[in-house]
Amino acid sequence: MNKQGNKIGYVKGVFIVFITAFIAIQFYRPNKNSQKEATYSDFLTTEAAPEAVATLFKNSCYDCHSNKTEYYWYDHISPISWYVDTHVMDGKNELNFSVWRTTDYRTKRVHLSNIITNITEGKMPLSSYTFMHPKTKLSDKQIEQILAWVSTIEVK
Ligand code: HEC
Repeated sequence: MNKQGNKIGYVKGVFIVFITAFIAIQFYRPNKNSQKEATYSDFLTTEAAPEAVATLFKNSCYDCHSNKTEYYWYDHISPISWYVDTHVMDGKNELNFSVWRTTDYRTKRVHLSNIITNITEGKMPLSSYTFMHPKTKLSDKQIEQILAWVSTIEVK
């Protein structure tokens, strides 16, 4: 084989290894975070959130901070699914809105004040997420709307 042929052979080899690896990793998928309906212990239900605010939380926070993630088609493809899963696990570990009612009041207070700080400072939703899903980004007006409501919550 001449030099050119070797090069093509090499590129083909790398391509085949890459494709094989890509197919192989599709078998390693995280369990989906897909509880059917919002439950009795949900944050927005417990605190009787107005419809408009509830929509904002569901759109911008619930994918990572509840038991129900709305997946996009590409979220099912490894290794994207691994990346998404890590965010969901980390987000839920910190704060899970689906189990709000049964959280003790001290923890609730910490969460509420953290929600206020994180939203005020623009840290939540995560920028890597709003970059992929621009509709989840909160406008200044929406931020005000959330803050106004959250500051009225009295936890028991
Ligand atoms: C893409 C996933 C994702 C989205 C969407 C998201 N978060 Fe988070 N959130 C995380 C992760 C991961 C952490 C933990 C690590 C960190 O702070 O970066 C976290 C941490 C937090 C914390 C600190 C936890 C505590 O001690 O109470 C609060 C509060 C919070 N998020 C609120 C929100 C709110 C409110 C929204 C919606 C406006 C939101 N997050 C949207 C992933 C997310």
